[in-house]
Order: sequence, then C-alpha cells, then structure tokens
Amino acid sequence: MLPSRQLDSTGLEEAYYRLFREFFDKAEKKRRWSLREDIPWDQVNPNLNPALGDVLETFCTVELYLPDYIDKAWPLLRHSRGREWFHANWGYEEAKHSMAMGDWLIASGQRTEDQLREVETLVSSYEWNLPHDSPIGMVLYGMTQELATFLHYRNLNRCLANEPVGDPALSKLLTLICVDERAHHDFYKQVTKLYLERDRGGTIEALRRVVHTFAMPAVDMLANSRQRVQAIRELKIFDEDIFFTDVVRPLLAELNIEWREFRQRKPNSRSISTPSLP
Ligand SMILES: [Fe+2]
Ligand SMILES: [Fe+2]
Repeated sequence: MLPSRQLDSTGLEEAYYRLFREFFDKAEKKRRWSLREDIPWDQVNPNLNPALGDVLETFCTVELYLPDYIDKAWPLLRHSRGREWFHANWGYEEAKHSMAMGDWLIASGQRTEDQLREVETLVSSYEWNLPHDSPIGMVLYGMTQELATFLHYRNLNRCLANEPVGDPALSKLLTLICVDERAHHDFYKQVTKLYLERDRGGTIEALRRVVHTFAMPAVDMLANSRQRVQAIRELKIFDEDIFFTDVVRPLLAELNIEWREFRQRKPNSRSISTPSLP
C-alpha cells in the first residue's frame, strides 16, 4: 500500500487531521474522566446479579485485545498524522475502559485478581486480526463497531436499572464508557462522510461489505464464546435484530444513504478491490 500522503490528491488526509483536532479539543474540554475520582467506588454492590458480572467480564475481555487492535491496525495508518494521532488517542481511551471494568469486577467480588490475570493470559495466547485490510474498510468497520459497542454498554446499563438493587458505581462507569464509544462512532462517521463526498459509489460498496460481514471483535476467540453470545442475546443487550434496527438503519439515515441505494449494487459502481481512496 502506498503511504497515505502520496494518495492525498483529494485532501482527504488533511481533512482527517482537522477532524481529529476537533475531536481531541472536544474530548479535552468535555469528555475526560478519571478512573479514580469519577466513579463512586464506595457504592459498588457486592450482591449484584452474577449474570451481569459475566457480561461485563465478556466486554472487559474484548477490550483486553487492545494491543492487537493497535498493533494490527498501525501499518494501515502509517504516514497519515490524522489516522495515527486519532488511533493513539483512541487507544488511551479504550485502555481506560478495560481497566475500569477490571477494577469493578474485583471491587464487587465477582472476580478475584487471579481470575482476571488468568483471563489476560488466555487473551494474550490468541491473536486478533484485522477484519478488513484497507484504511477505508477499517474506518467503516470502526464506525459500525463503535455504535454497536455503545449499544452493548447502554443496554447493559438498562438491564442494571431493572435490577431490584442496582450499583451506582457500575452505572456511572457504563455511562462514562457509553459517552466515549459514541464519540468514537461519531468521529468515524465524520470520516465516512469525507469518503462519501469523494467517492460515493465506492464508499457504499465498501460499507455494504462491512455490514454484511460484521461481527463484534474478538468475541469468537473468548472461552465459552457461544454461551457468552447467548447470554448477551437473552438479556436483550445485542442480537441481529438490534444490529439491524439500532445500527444499520440509523447509520444509513445519518449518512443520507437510501435503503434502496444501499441494497442495489450498481453494475458500474467502483469495486473496493480497486478503491480510488485509501
Ligand atoms: Fe471501549
Ligand atoms: Fe470505542
């Protein structure tokens, strides 16, 4: 792949960097939170429904693949300061998510330190690989996956609100993570609009492929993956219907892509195997 700067005749990379600076400024002003100060750790519920603890452990484990998410994506980002700096900032925020969830699992007594270390050891023995091998594919995947991730946390928080006795610490933690995930989604959505402005047909073709092959990252690599996915379905946190109604439909609406246009592959549309944009 050619370095992105050599392919920037459309101004995409400079626009990407400007979006990143806006994202960063807004994050510094409105979104930064402290793991130690902003979660009421003294209000952790030691008797919360263990099924919710299991789901949280699944989410925490998915976030533990962060080193692979960084390492594997980096070659696609090289030579683009907007993409590199965004990914570095994104990595910091995702690291905080997994630490916060791990801290809650221990503080609540749902897991011991040793159990969490075991999970980390297991995670490090599997390698996560990129679901798409082009920068545009990873932007579109990121946009879709971050919205799906936001829904996982939001819906878990709703389950928590329905418990007879809640957990103010977990609720706050999930709320803070939700805001971050939504911001990640919004950033990738803005980048997607840059792609659409430059190559609408090619971008929609690439989005179609992302949606049709979509899976949450790393879930299939977890121990007892089938039971974990089943538990998430049974609690109505996430399933195929939610993906369609709360991810795909709103995404297309926000991007001003008609369902008809998304579904109908035009014979003369540009193929993503020969993308005009990185
Ligand atoms: Fe996250
Ligand atoms: Fe995220």
